[in-house]
Amino acid sequence: MNLQVIRGTVTGIAHQAGAIVLQHYNQPHLEETKASVFDIVTDADKASEKLIVDALCEHFPGHHIVGEEGGGMGAPADEADYFWFIDPIDGTINFANNIPFFSISIALTDRDLKPLVGVVLNPVSNELFSAAAGQGATRNGESIHVSAAPMLESAILCTGFPYDVPSQKRINVEPFVEFLSQTRGMRRFGSAALDLSFVACGRLDGWWENRLNPWDCMAGILIVREAGGKVTDYSGGEARLDGKELIASNGHLHEAMRAVIHKYP
Ligand code: IPD
Ligand code: CA
Ligand code: CA
Repeated sequence: MNLQVIRGTVTGIAHQAGAIVLQHYNQPHLEETKASVFDIVTDADKASEKLIVDALCEHFPGHHIVGEEGGGMGAPADEADYFWFIDPIDGTINFANNIPFFSISIALTDRDLKPLVGVVLNPVSNELFSAAAGQGATRNGESIHVSAAPMLESAILCTGFPYDVPSQKRINVEPFVEFLSQTRGMRRFGSAALDLSFVACGRLDGWWENRLNPWDCMAGILIVREAGGKVTDYSGGEARLDGKELIASNGHLHEAMRAVIHKYP
């Protein structure tokens, strides 16, 4: 399978989905709540996912597709050698509030969930980050690389918070507070896929988050790795592709970040 060709095909699909999302942006839109009152889906999420799923089914009929809104689609999972993970809008709360920081995230993996292709598009800024395994990472076609920040004192770190904060004992605030006095700055932007892409292109030096889902992070993990960065779990082990306990960094900061985050499981 030619990953570069697939990367090009998915780039085109992401731009088409981006055009649909932009038609809904800054307009009145329908909202429904999902698992909690804070977790919403809009008509734009549904329209974006439909376009992406239809296109993937047409181009890759034997593949299984997991969409955030629609669940399992395409070929049955037990018959497919390849899987797609789609977040039709990563950063729906930003989208719904007309904050121009959200993305469309699409990733291809093999059946062992090894990431093969990842594409993340911010349709407002028209920035498209992509990677293919072993082929490097790009922003709008130009090669990107993680930052060279050698220590926390010269770093900007970013994180996110899940929707179920009220029901959780640990809500990720302790490491945030600890890093506030150890870094140049802390950020919470609201789209994990774009956060990871920002680590990949050196705008951020590190990022961590717990309790994500594969569609939030699969594309971004590949983009960071292909840009020379490091992604692990909170123990420094193999990154969990189900989206739990992820740390991504430029590599230099990884241990210093991990030492703080690991204290607050
Ligand atoms: C959310 C974003 C956010 C992260 C949340 C995710 P959604 O995805 O990635 O940055 O902090 O945990 O759920 O719901 O906007 O697709
Ligand atoms: Ca998401
Ligand atoms: Ca989403």
